[in-house]
Amino acid sequence: MEKLLLVLFVVWLNPSSAAQLGVVQTEGGLVEGWRHRMGLFRTVDVFQGVPFADVPGMWEKPKPHPGWDGILKATKYRDRCLQVTLLQTKTQGSEDCLYLNIFVPQGRSLSTNLPVMVYLFGGAFLLGASNDVEVLGDSLYDGKEMADRGGVIIVTVNYRVGTLGFLSSGDARMPGNYGLWDQHAAISWVRRNIERFGGNPDNMTIFGQSAGAVSVSFQMLSPYSKGLFRRAITQCGVALSPWALQRNPMALTKKIARKVGCWKFNEDEMLNCLKKADPVDLTKAGSIDVLLLLGKGVVMDLLELAPVIDGDFIPDEPSNLFHNAAQFDYLAGINSMDGHIFAGVDVPSINSKTNTTVEQVTHLLARLTKEKGNAAVPSAIAVYSAHWGSSPEPAVVKKTVVDIETDFLFLVPTQVALQLHAKNSSGARTYSYLFNMKTRIPGFPRWVEAEHAEDLQYLFGKPYAFPLVYFPRHRDLSGYMIAYWTNFARTGDPNRGDSRVPVPWPPFTPNHRPYLTINHKMSRSSVNYDLRSHYVSYWTQTYSKLPAKKNQEEEA
Ligand SMILES: *[C@@H]1O[C@H](CO)[C@@H](O)[C@H](O)[C@H]1NC(C)=O
Ligand SMILES: *[C@@H]1O[C@H](CO)[C@@H](O)[C@H](O)[C@H]1NC(C)=O
Ligand SMILES: *[C@@H]1O[C@H](CO)[C@@H](O)[C@H](O)[C@H]1NC(C)=O
Repeated sequence: MEKLLLVLFVVWLNPSSAAQLGVVQTEGGLVEGWRHRMGLFRTVDVFQGVPFADVPGMWEKPKPHPGWDGILKATKYRDRCLQVTLLQTKTQGSEDCLYLNIFVPQGRSLSTNLPVMVYLFGGAFLLGASNDVEVLGDSLYDGKEMADRGGVIIVTVNYRVGTLGFLSSGDARMPGNYGLWDQHAAISWVRRNIERFGGNPDNMTIFGQSAGAVSVSFQMLSPYSKGLFRRAITQCGVALSPWALQRNPMALTKKIARKVGCWKFNEDEMLNCLKKADPVDLTKAGSIDVLLLLGKGVVMDLLELAPVIDGDFIPDEPSNLFHNAAQFDYLAGINSMDGHIFAGVDVPSINSKTNTTVEQVTHLLARLTKEKGNAAVPSAIAVYSAHWGSSPEPAVVKKTVVDIETDFLFLVPTQVALQLHAKNSSGARTYSYLFNMKTRIPGFPRWVEAEHAEDLQYLFGKPYAFPLVYFPRHRDLSGYMIAYWTNFARTGDPNRGDSRVPVPWPPFTPNHRPYLTINHKMSRSSVNYDLRSHYVSYWTQTYSKLPAKKNQEEEA
């Protein structure tokens, strides 16, 4: 009897009592992943390093994968796309990098018809990978917790970045946007193959953060996405962000050509030389040097390798393409201090004990608005210092610096995108949020709230995966975010789905503009209206009407 109980107990604990996918047939061949146990009768089938396209040619669109014989063991992440390291001193990764990873939650019976969420990573179009940012031995973007808790399939994908992903001549010779085409190829692969993994191809959501959010936004606006997916989420970035587009790609290409010894008066010869150059040298030539700023520009100016209006994937100004996005349900938001990381470089005194001066604030505004000459500075400083009084607390001035960068780089473009989407959509929904959980990054001043990218650890369920390094309030927040996000993927409404939410999140419409403030304490008072509308209208009405400076030549 005891023996029998023991056997029963072992069977009961054995994760094989949860259903398992085993070997899956894809269009390229058979793939086999591995299973991770989440709890009783709950596992996640993980497939890492599944190819969605062939090894790409340099500055060519991705091509279909030729396929393989036998069973491809999808048990390890593949290389990231060739890129500079975070410190910009070396390169890492490979040209053979067009792979994706799939996380499928399983219960007692095999999952079918699950909603599918495809994640596009951030990294300024310069670096990053589907398995980026190692946190305690696992990737920040590991999809297991979100898949298991939300009952959705998570897919994370690689795409080309840096010089190889985004260099462009601004015309048909080298159109650019290779990284966006990679994303499109990955999303299309998921659409064609995910049913075999238990997903519903008619129920796909794409989501991303920072440059990944800008990418999601471009995928929504591109005419190539018609009917490809149903919903989209942008976290801290949209195609209207001032850093989302390279508007003078040939000047940048010439600069890169100089660095790799390919500068030639004849442009065709120069482009031919670039096409024969060493990919590692080209990648290094795309690195950024913060020291070059010397107080003249702002960090934003250094983010040069970016998508371009190519007349094809992006046929026009993003603001003219919102009719293409009208079919998708859309959820978008920002972190309350998204601009802090940029502000800390542009105005270093904000993070030190030194007072930040009015001159420093004015100088920042002048650099951010240099497209208008000096015309915008008086009105901008008036708007941003209106609440200061005669002798503002040092922290108030520092926080104003962060507000300026957050508004300019993230908040205002996101509000404009939400409005254009809500106005164009007929039937599709729109939702707006502000994530303002206090920072967990040690060493920052006390007034710092949610820094850029701090939302991701909660969305990807790190407080559950690593309970010892988080507090219960972090798990509450993580649970709320996973619930809203995966409900939205399931139904197009963050309130309806398999997960309970702490407070109803009303939709954003042209005339009724609520936003949900997301943190660990959520109640009815988390719903507010017209996010920073005074500042939004300054930038979209007053500022945008100022004439642009005539001669906008960039110093090379
Ligand atoms: C819809 O989007 C277009 C761009 O595609 C924009 O010009 C237009 O203003 C939007 N429509 C409405 C009613 O806002
Ligand atoms: C910083 O500002 C505060 C408040 O205006 C003031 O009391 C303090 O003396 C200033 N510190 C320095 C070093 O100027
Ligand atoms: C999307 O998935 C949900 C949950 O499985 C389901 O109720 C809904 O009908 C699906 N939508 C479509 C278009 O298949």
